[in-house]
Amino acid sequence: GADEDLAGRHVVVSAGGTREPIDPVRFIGNRSSGLQGYALARTAVARGARVTLVAANVALPDPAGADVVRVGSAEEMRKAVLEAGGAADAVVMAAAVADFRPAGYRDSKIKKTPGAEPEPIRLTKNPDILAELGQRRQDGQVIVGFAAETDDVLANGREKLARKGCDLLVVNQVGDGLTFGQADNAATVLAVDGDPTVVPRGPKEALADVVWDLVAARLE
Ligand code: C5P
Repeated sequence: GADEDLAGRHVVVSAGGTREPIDPVRFIGNRSSGLQGYALARTAVARGARVTLVAANVALPDPAGADVVRVGSAEEMRKAVLEAGGAADAVVMAAAVADFRPAGYRDSKIKKTPGAEPEPIRLTKNPDILAELGQRRQDGQVIVGFAAETDDVLANGREKLARKGCDLLVVNQVGDGLTFGQADNAATVLAVDGDPTVVPRGPKEALADVVWDLVAARLE
């Protein structure tokens, strides 16, 4: 927008989806395209912010004016987000970070053995970057999470907002061709201390601008 209400602010946005390696050729991934995170980065630049975009496996051109840090796995994303976000005014975690990763990385490609059943892939928990940001929050810093849910969208969102210690949580319904890879999104933004903001289906930029409106109001 014309209104540079984020001038002088440093914001960090994560986008895309992490890939958790199984062996040198395989990974566990997810359906995040990065479009919502990139829309957040573009709109923040337009509103005057200095923007660091931490992008995981996104096939989109770098947004003009943002510093882009490319990462692959959740562990790499954690390092980049904590480094850039430690002293930032706001951190928005729009990325789909894998909750689990394969417990043991195999240095060589897993082979199929004729006549034998495949080995199960055992999983272990990834660190929760958003929860860590919530715990390390600096004075005045605004922390925003996203929650993609298929069921009980609002109830799960409320619980997640409290558990992860963020200020705002953008919840949306996913599945059935909704959201992933689409230009449009619809969401409800929950606030730790106020009423929810309902954002009707529209361009991902429109949702991004609502998020920055709420962030800017909290930074004042
Ligand atoms: O728990 P869930 O994955 O649904 O939470 C989603 C939110 O938490 C998103 O903002 C996502 O970026 C963040 N997250 C994270 N680290 C994880 C898992 C999710 O920061 N390991």
